[in-house]
Amino acid sequence: MRVDVLTLFPEFFDSPLATSFFRRATDQGAWQVTVHDIREQTPPGVHRQCDDTPYGGGPGMVMQLDPVVKSLEALGYSAVPKRKRTDARIVLLSASGVPLTQSKAEELAGLQKLTLICGHYEGMDERLMDLFPIEEICIGDYVLTGGESAALVVLDAVVRLLPEVLGNPESLREESFQDGLLDFPVYTKPADYRGVAAPAVLLSGHHGQIAQWRRQQALLKTARHRPDLFVKLRVTAAEAEWLREQGIEVSDEAIIPAVAKSKSRSRRATS
Ligand SMILES: C[S@@+](CC[C@H](N)C(=O)[O-])C[C@H]1O[C@@H](n2cnc3c(N)ncnc32)[C@H](O)[C@@H]1O
Repeated sequence: MRVDVLTLFPEFFDSPLATSFFRRATDQGAWQVTVHDIREQTPPGVHRQCDDTPYGGGPGMVMQLDPVVKSLEALGYSAVPKRKRTDARIVLLSASGVPLTQSKAEELAGLQKLTLICGHYEGMDERLMDLFPIEEICIGDYVLTGGESAALVVLDAVVRLLPEVLGNPESLREESFQDGLLDFPVYTKPADYRGVAAPAVLLSGHHGQIAQWRRQQALLKTARHRPDLFVKLRVTAAEAEWLREQGIEVSDEAIIPAVAKSKSRSRRATS
């Protein structure tokens, strides 16, 4: 995968790209990340200005089109006025974009070429979106000073999905958001730390009970931390009963109907 990052602050990426999984992905050839300084596309001079005052007035400055357009053209994209927003491979980090989700990260990780544009000041001149097939992505409901840290979040969510980058691909399977559920809590040695014990069931070696405990804890965490995700889940009658004992409200519609035993028995008998 080829990744190009357009930014006014290329040095922001030096340390992250040389560290941990980002570096491993580069060393393994899983991706090739190139950081481009948008200012290089401005006329030579002392200021190399990339921003200007907003039309209509108001505080702050707006990122100018020309240096960003030229940066994209240098990467092989062509500006087409009023083009449809299809085939999005260019992402503008933006507080007013669509939310970054695990499935969006999976989609981006499947691309051969991904270009990230980091905004600054009050944001980009909106006409950029009329000229290129750009998808605006927001990493959360808060405002950052610039798109650089948001781009790193996108890259982090993507890198761990690239083949061979994670040592153990199994760890991708049981993670938060994978089934619309948050991850279960995890523990490691020592079993007792300053009088706080790890849950005994995890030391029992009983795989069935461990799996049940993890599922219950994942449900509980999702209910408490992410009620928006929890309302979309379906649970068994036993899980609903356990959750209700923990004080979690579970609607009857969320319970998976039990398959009637007599029906399945008669189906077996006729087959
Ligand atoms: C100060 S912010 C601009 C905020 C903008 N005026 C607004 O209220 O939406 C500067 C840049 O930071 C980045 N940014 C800020 N918050 C972000 C978020 N939650 N997700 C992604 N990018 C963000 C964008 O690239 C944005 O252009």
